[in-house]
Amino acid sequence: MEFRCFLCFWVCFCFLLGFGVPRLSVADRQGFLSLSCGGSSSFVDASNISWIPDSTYVSSGNVTMVNFIEEGGSSSQIPLRFFLESQEGRQCYRLPVQNASLVLVRPRFIYKNYDGLNKPPSFWVSLGTASAANINLTSSDPWVEEFIWPVNKDTLPFCLHSILDGGNPVISQLEVRPLPGGAYTSSSWEFSNKSLRKRFRINCGYSGGPLRYPLDPYDRIWDADQKFSPAQLSSGFNNQLPLNLSNIQESPPAAVLQSARVLARKNILSYNFQLDKTGDYYAVLYFGGILPVSPSFDILANGDVVRSNYTVKSSEVSVLFFIRKGITSLNITLRNVSFYPLMNAIEIYESVDIPLECSTTTVSALQVIQQYTDLDFGWQDDPCSPTWWKHVGCEGSIVTSLVLSDMNLRAISPTFGDLLDLKTLDLHNTSLAGEIQNLASLQELETLNLSFNKLTSFGSDFSTLVSLQILDLQNNSLEGPVPDSLGSLKNLHLLNLENNKLRGTLPQSLNKESLEVRTSGNLCLSFSSRCTDLSENPSLQTPEVTVFTPKHRHGHSRKAVLVGTIAGALCALLVITVAVFMYKRRKEDEVPSSSRTLTEIRNWNAAKIFSYKEIKVATNNFKDVIGHGSFGSVYLGKLPDGKLVAVKVRFDRTQLGADSFINEVYLLSQVRHQNLVSLEGFCCESKQQILVYEYLPGGSLADNLYGSNSKRVTLNWARRLKIAVDAAKGLDYLHNGSNPRIIHRDVKCSNILLDMEMNAKVPHTDVSHVTTVVKGTAGYLDPEYFSTQQLTEKSDVYSFGVVLLELICGREPLSHSGSPDSYNLAKPYLQAGTFEVVDKSLKGSFDVESMRKVGSIAASSVERDASQRPTMGEVLAELKEAYSIQLAYLASQAGHMRISSAESPVH
Ligand SMILES: *[C@@H]1O[C@H](CO)[C@@H](O)[C@H](O)[C@H]1NC(C)=O
Ligand SMILES: *[C@@H]1O[C@H](CO)[C@@H](O)[C@H](O)[C@H]1NC(C)=O
Ligand SMILES: *[C@@H]1O[C@H](CO)[C@@H](O)[C@H](O)[C@H]1NC(C)=O
Ligand SMILES: *[C@@H]1O[C@H](CO)[C@@H](O)[C@H](O)[C@H]1NC(C)=O
Ligand SMILES: *[C@@H]1O[C@H](CO)[C@@H](O)[C@H](O)[C@H]1NC(C)=O
Ligand SMILES: *[C@@H]1O[C@H](CO)[C@@H](O)[C@H](O)[C@H]1NC(C)=O
Ligand SMILES: *[C@@H]1O[C@H](CO)[C@@H](O)[C@H](O)[C@H]1NC(C)=O
Ligand SMILES: *[C@@H]1O[C@H](CO)[C@@H](O)[C@H](O)[C@H]1NC(C)=O
Repeated sequence: MEFRCFLCFWVCFCFLLGFGVPRLSVADRQGFLSLSCGGSSSFVDASNISWIPDSTYVSSGNVTMVNFIEEGGSSSQIPLRFFLESQEGRQCYRLPVQNASLVLVRPRFIYKNYDGLNKPPSFWVSLGTASAANINLTSSDPWVEEFIWPVNKDTLPFCLHSILDGGNPVISQLEVRPLPGGAYTSSSWEFSNKSLRKRFRINCGYSGGPLRYPLDPYDRIWDADQKFSPAQLSSGFNNQLPLNLSNIQESPPAAVLQSARVLARKNILSYNFQLDKTGDYYAVLYFGGILPVSPSFDILANGDVVRSNYTVKSSEVSVLFFIRKGITSLNITLRNVSFYPLMNAIEIYESVDIPLECSTTTVSALQVIQQYTDLDFGWQDDPCSPTWWKHVGCEGSIVTSLVLSDMNLRAISPTFGDLLDLKTLDLHNTSLAGEIQNLASLQELETLNLSFNKLTSFGSDFSTLVSLQILDLQNNSLEGPVPDSLGSLKNLHLLNLENNKLRGTLPQSLNKESLEVRTSGNLCLSFSSRCTDLSENPSLQTPEVTVFTPKHRHGHSRKAVLVGTIAGALCALLVITVAVFMYKRRKEDEVPSSSRTLTEIRNWNAAKIFSYKEIKVATNNFKDVIGHGSFGSVYLGKLPDGKLVAVKVRFDRTQLGADSFINEVYLLSQVRHQNLVSLEGFCCESKQQILVYEYLPGGSLADNLYGSNSKRVTLNWARRLKIAVDAAKGLDYLHNGSNPRIIHRDVKCSNILLDMEMNAKVPHTDVSHVTTVVKGTAGYLDPEYFSTQQLTEKSDVYSFGVVLLELICGREPLSHSGSPDSYNLAKPYLQAGTFEVVDKSLKGSFDVESMRKVGSIAASSVERDASQRPTMGEVLAELKEAYSIQLAYLASQAGHMRISSAESPVH
């Protein structure tokens, strides 16, 4: 959930950065936008249209001037914008289209040898996701295109794309005209995923020049049809009868309809259009009743009758639409039935397919990933269409591959997990460190290349990557056991683990014919047990992090998922000590049987023994999964007395057996404190190892801090302090109150859980069987661990310091961006006692001294040098004081003591 919020943030941010466009206030009254490409000043033309320079709408390209002779013979210097052929990617104008659902877009391209090279360029242009037209200035210079385009966003990208050896794309004008919504839609055509490219627009029977604005309110250009036989022309009816155009959505200008081509001597009146290119073409024919009679005729297209006995009533206007598919030329013929067939105007459009857009989740996820790189890939608009973004590969509108090698990514950003259709993910040599994370949702992933990084931990379970075929992890710093779950991937045929720091026995599940496992260059890694003994070496402790997968990927109510999903409470030290102790004792006592141990523990600190049947009933047959990790899954359960519990079912990774499990339960049950999540009981039957914990319905601190905005607002400074004090009490108990001392090893916001009253508890976790396992999460992990390979109480203090910084700043540490010193930016401010970095939602509601105290203790807790950090007891004392100060401040603000129960003073 916190990731979602994080995503929203970046999305907004990206929006501001990338897609913010000037409002169309520059457009004139009709909503026209007329850009003089490469121009430097605004002007009003002969038709009273205002032209402005294009620089606000485009961010690339070079500008030049060329001498241009208009059709009328007048010569002028006009500006041009050209884009160097060598420039990669799309060169785009982002056109504002806020108020329209349909627009006319008209670019005009001019070369006229502006560069003196006499090489007119060829290139192509796109609108939105569609490849709209090829431009070849050799065959025509200038070249004008016109598109009628449906819009559903605030901006419409218009881009020029160079082709190999095609020369530099160039443009001189770009016009945008809003059209009425329903125009050009008919029973044979709608703008769903299609649009129109104009091929012909003819003002039939008119031999003057082109007509446009202001005669046409939408500024379409109606060409005269002088190219057609003058013998058939008739334009003598234009003043005879007024026409009622009010029911024609396309609103052709009356001036256009008041002239017509009328059949004279011959039997048929025909227009023949050469279309150059095979495609689907849409014809719009306009008929105006400008004759004192009502002629009837058959209408044929390429010989087929489209309409028989079509009648044009005097002084009425009608429109006929039809589409012809897969044609290269179109012959429209009117065959006489009665009187004189006539035609007033014709529009012929090519149908252009508009590819689907990528899902917004995909686009946002990629934008966030780009933010992590500190590079600018020029990722804008759609990742797949009209061309693929750099580093991205698609199938249709679905992103299926992402190749980000040889750059600095630092960590696998959470949004990789949103690219659900990825088949190939190549992150080799991207400085990734820490654990492999955030990929569990990629069920289509076939090739995963994480080689040549600094990854240290396998992270979570791989069992969800069901399509995985190739997993390349060579040349990392991986430690710890190779996950057994890799063996369950049926399609996996290559697992490259070469050159890591792996040591120990490979899971037998990987020992199969269909799978090639490469292991050279590790400390000692094989299927035989010869490497096992070495794994006892404590200097090779392995960081291991449990990653839980949210149950509802898109849900908002992931409450308390975390209970029990979190691993690691009892430190390696403790387990080793006690295990050694028990082992010795067992030796002395001739090893008690499990059943005897079971009897012995019936009275342990109220930890109840459940039967497997009871567990099944409580969890409704394991129906409601609330989390899972490398250890197994966690289910919501309800005990017969109505108490909700989190039921963690583990698989026994080490096959140490029941005795070992019971020993752990014993240890767990001994550690009880009001600020530690308590173990309710366990089950050890049917080869299942099940732990039953208290369920905390308030969610984690992370959920509350980074969940929906409303949640965060309820976390005022006093509440945050109360939570900090509670958690510190729990940790202080582990460090100082329990015997022996315990290091938590995985303190973080998502590991601080809240009950209904917002009391905080630190979860008690399963003691892993693997006694050398070290927990820890990137961003919270003691930087000294990297050199000493050891965690101490001061490591917990460090992690807790990061939590305090999160409470102050209201933002996540960099668990995604990876560097251990994420909060270095905040530290100087806090040490200086200034509050620029404080969470905005706390503004004006905290006592300055209280904030200063917490800032100072947080800053010293995250000192790199462990000896400079305070103890948990000292942290707790400072927090209590800060909390009291804040309460006093609130009381003085309120004018009298009225403190809610959640804000009662600490004792
Ligand atoms: C969109 O329409 C609204 C109301 O008609 C108008 O106030 C606004 O200026 C228009 N925006 C643009 C960009 O034309
Ligand atoms: C041109 O537009 C201006 C307002 O912008 C108007 O006053 C003027 O009458 C228009 N001229 C013509 C010829 O339409
Ligand atoms: C295009 O502009 C860039 C920088 O604005 C300049 O370095 C380059 O020389 C220009 N190229 C041409 C062909 O004018
Ligand atoms: C452009 O048109 C010219 C002449 O019409 C032709 O020779 C050339 O091959 C065309 N270029 C492309 C890229 O189609
Ligand atoms: C366009 O939409 C229709 C149905 O609305 C669909 O059948 C067709 O495949 C779509 N075409 C493209 C190119 O997406
Ligand atoms: C034009 O035709 C519409 C219906 O098509 C009618 O409602 C309207 O009154 C007519 N206008 C005139 C001026 O005749
Ligand atoms: C167009 O079609 C008509 C009848 O279908 C035919 O008589 C005429 O010759 C055709 N014109 C051309 C140029 O093909
Ligand atoms: C054509 O239509 C008109 C009016 O709709 C009708 O009067 C005439 O009889 C029709 N002619 C033929 C040949 O169908």
